[in-house]
Amino acid sequence: MTQAPARYHPLLVTLHWLLALMLVVALVMGAVVLDKTPNSDPEKINALRGHMIAGGVILILTLVRIFVRFTTTAPVHATTGNVLLDKLGALVHVLLNLLVIVMAGSGIALAASAGLPDIVFGGSGQALPESFGAFPARAAHGIIAKLLMATIVLHIVGAIYHQVILKDGLMKRVWFGKR
Ligand code: HEM
Repeated sequence: MTQAPARYHPLLVTLHWLLALMLVVALVMGAVVLDKTPNSDPEKINALRGHMIAGGVILILTLVRIFVRFTTTAPVHATTGNVLLDKLGALVHVLLNLLVIVMAGSGIALAASAGLPDIVFGGSGQALPESFGAFPARAAHGIIAKLLMATIVLHIVGAIYHQVILKDGLMKRVWFGKR
């Protein structure tokens, strides 16, 4: 049996940091800019276009990342010495993948139900609906955003706990170098 490597595959490291950056930007832009811009604002269609493209790219890169994760060798799951914390760490990883997929899925469902592909990309000249409030997928997209933000915070707190309190060099596993 081959020994588990000390670091994740470099492609996985690249995708991890690229997706971390893209997700933070999409969450902040979504909650701070999109949500606060009324659909009557002439700039809204441009903001939606950027957000929908970025969200779609995030979904594709996440699916590629999951595929690479399960087709390359990975370090053994990090331990804290506490069984419950270790289980929470593993659960947070699963939740991160699931929430990003349902986040993008609910965005696509909202776009489809509000006819956004034609309005935003098709140049149909149609106006946006007065608000997205009546679409059930809009509420789902907002709730999942909060759950994803909370899960990302838990993930970061866990990483800091390993790095700063346990001093086990966990962050090296998600950086480039000899595996
Ligand atoms: C994982 C990827 C995505 C993230 C992190 C994300 C994030 C967000 C956030 C944080 C909001 C504001 C929610 C709120 O404050 O209640 C939002 C709104 C929205 N998102 Fe996404 N989104 C993603 C993917 C998508 C996709 C793929 C689409 C469509 C193809 C989309 C379409 C929209 C629309 C139409 C809104 C509503 C804007 C409004 O109410 O004015 N999103 N998104």
